[in-house]
Amino acid sequence: MPKIVVVNRAGEEKTVDADAGLSVMEAIRDNGFDELLALCGGCCSCATCHVYVDPAFADKIPAMSEDENDLLDSSDHRNESSRLSCQVQITGDLDGLRVTIAPED
Ligand code: FES
Repeated sequence: MPKIVVVNRAGEEKTVDADAGLSVMEAIRDNGFDELLALCGGCCSCATCHVYVDPAFADKIPAMSEDENDLLDSSDHRNESSRLSCQVQITGDLDGLRVTIAPED
């Protein structure tokens, strides 16, 4: 099973199991990180699942949709590593992925 490393807003990191087929958001939420609100439940309409993705994995993660791009524009904390974690599916290629929960907007 792939594992991902999650860094919370306090800078603490934890390695968690992430089933292939789940989204990164689900893997984070299911492992007890309640600061990732994910208010819309993964419908790409809230931007409260904003994370920064390790640039080393940039070419293994699917390109973002126009909707995701527009939503990320609403964040004051967007940077070049920003993704909405509900839009990134876990695959075997993402084993070892490091994601940092972005500050709250
Ligand atoms: S959970 Fe709402 S956009 Fe990801």
